Amino acid sequence: MKVREELILRTEKAVNQGYCLSHFEGKVVLVENCLPNELVRAKIKKVKKDYVEARAIEILEPSPKRIEPICKYFGLCGGCKFQNLKYEEQLNIKKALVEEAFQRTSKIFGLKINDVIPSDEEYFYRNKIEFSFAKRWLFNDEKYTEKEKEFALGFHIPKQYDKVIHIDECFLQSHFSNRIRNFVADFLFKKGATIHSLKNRDGLLKGLLVRESKNVNEKLVGLITTKFDENIIYELTNLLLENFPELTTFVNILSSPNISSTLPEEIRTIYGRGYIYEKLFDYKFEIYPNTFFQTNTKQAEKLFGYVINYLKNELLSKGQKRFHTLIDLYSGVGVIGILLSHLFESVIGFEEIRESIEAAKRNAVLNNINNISFIQRDLNKGFVFSQEIEKKDLILIADPPRTGMTEKTIQSILKIKPSIFIYISCNPITQARDLASFIPYYEIKFLQPVDMFPQTYHIENIAILKILSHKT
Ligand SMILES: C[S@@+](CC[C@H](N)C(=O)[O-])C[C@H]1O[C@@H](n2cnc3c(N)ncnc32)[C@H](O)[C@@H]1O
Repeated sequence: MKVREELILRTEKAVNQGYCLSHFEGKVVLVENCLPNELVRAKIKKVKKDYVEARAIEILEPSPKRIEPICKYFGLCGGCKFQNLKYEEQLNIKKALVEEAFQRTSKIFGLKINDVIPSDEEYFYRNKIEFSFAKRWLFNDEKYTEKEKEFALGFHIPKQYDKVIHIDECFLQSHFSNRIRNFVADFLFKKGATIHSLKNRDGLLKGLLVRESKNVNEKLVGLITTKFDENIIYELTNLLLENFPELTTFVNILSSPNISSTLPEEIRTIYGRGYIYEKLFDYKFEIYPNTFFQTNTKQAEKLFGYVINYLKNELLSKGQKRFHTLIDLYSGVGVIGILLSHLFESVIGFEEIRESIEAAKRNAVLNNINNISFIQRDLNKGFVFSQEIEKKDLILIADPPRTGMTEKTIQSILKIKPSIFIYISCNPITQARDLASFIPYYEIKFLQPVDMFPQTYHIENIAILKILSHKT
C-alpha cells in the first residue's frame, strides 16, 4: 500500500480522535472523514509499520445515523468532527470509546460503564473559546485581495499551524461570541494591524479570547497581542463599549513574539474588573482570562453533582454526616473542593499555577468556606500528605490535565491509600493507563462518562475506586 493510493473500505467502529477502524488485506486502516459502518472510497495519507492512515474522499454507502452538518466549515475545521452524526449515536460511540480505552490501554475488561450523561445543549454550550489570527486558508472558489490573504481570525485547520479558516459563524459559543469576533476582526483588518509571525518574530496579533458565564451572564473579551499597542487598544475599547453594552470586562493579554502559543506574560485590564463571575449551584467563582474552568457550565453541574450525590450516599450508608479529609488534586480555582466542602471536616487542594491558587483562596472567601486550604505544588513531582487520620475517612479526587498523572503522583496516592479515589478525566486513555497501577489495591466500582463536548469526539469520564483492604 502506498501514499495517495485509493482503497474501497468498509468502516467498523469509531476509534480514537474521530477515526474509524477498517481492514484491508489483513492490515489495519484508520480512516478519517467518515462514520462507522459505511462503505467509503479512501485515499491513503500515511503508511506506518502496523497500520495505515487514510481519508475518506467519497461515501459510497452512508450510515443510517448520518445527518446533515449545520456548519459550513464542517470537514475542514477540526472542531466538530461528530456534527454529521445523530446526537444519541455520538453518545453511544463515546461510551464505546471509554470501554475501548480501558481494554486496549490497560487490558481492563468487564468494567461496569454507565450510559453517558447527555448534554441538554447540543450547540452554543461553551463558556470559553480562543480564536487565532494567522494567514487565511483560501477556499478555491473565492477571490481574495492580497491583504485578505494575509489576515484571518478563526480556527486552525488540523496540523496546519500557519493558516486559519477565517470564520464568521461558530455554533459552539453564543451569538455574542460570533458578533464580537466578527466586529474585532473587521476593525483590526481595516486598521491594517499585522499578524504575528513566529518565523520573523514580529507582527502584533495572536488571538482573541471570549469567556462568558452561563449562570451569571457576564462576558470577558481578551485581545492577545505581542505588545501593548495603545492606539489600537483604546480605539477598540471605545468601539466595543459603544457596540456591546453587555461586555463586562476587556483585557489585553501580552504574549511573547518568540513563542507560537498564546501563553501570557502580562494581562492588562483595560475595562472592567479583569475577571468574571460564574456560578455552579449556589457557589460563585471568579474566572480570570488564564485560569481553568470547565468549559461547559451546565454539564459541569451534572459532572460535579454526580460526585456530590455519590459521596452523600456513601455517608448515608455509613450513618455519618461528614468524612474527615478530602484531597483535591489539580484543584484549579478550587471548584471541586469548594462544592464538596460541606461533606468534609477539612479539604486540601493541590495545584501548580500560582494565579489559580490565589483565585481558589478568594473563591473560598467569596463562598464563606473556612475548612479549605490550597497548596501550590507541581504534582509531576508527587505530593506529601502526612496528617494522621483514619484511612476510611480519607477521600481523594484527582482531575488532571489530558496528559494524566505521573508515576510520582500515582505512588504518592498509593502511599496514603484513600478509602475512595475518584479520578475525573477528559482523556480516558491516560486515565486507563494511570488506573492500571491501582488495580492490585483498589476495585474500580464503575465508570460514569459525561458528555461535556457535544459534536466533538471528546469525553469526560468519572472513575470511582474503592480500596480493597487497608492492610495492603
Ligand atoms: C482539568 S483541570 C481541573 C481543575 C479543577 N479540578 C476544576 O474542575 O476546575 C487541571 C488542573 O491541573 C492543573 N495542573 C496541570 N499540571 C499540573 C501539575 N503538574 N501540577 C499541579 N497542577 C497541575 C492545571 O493548572 C489545572 O488547573
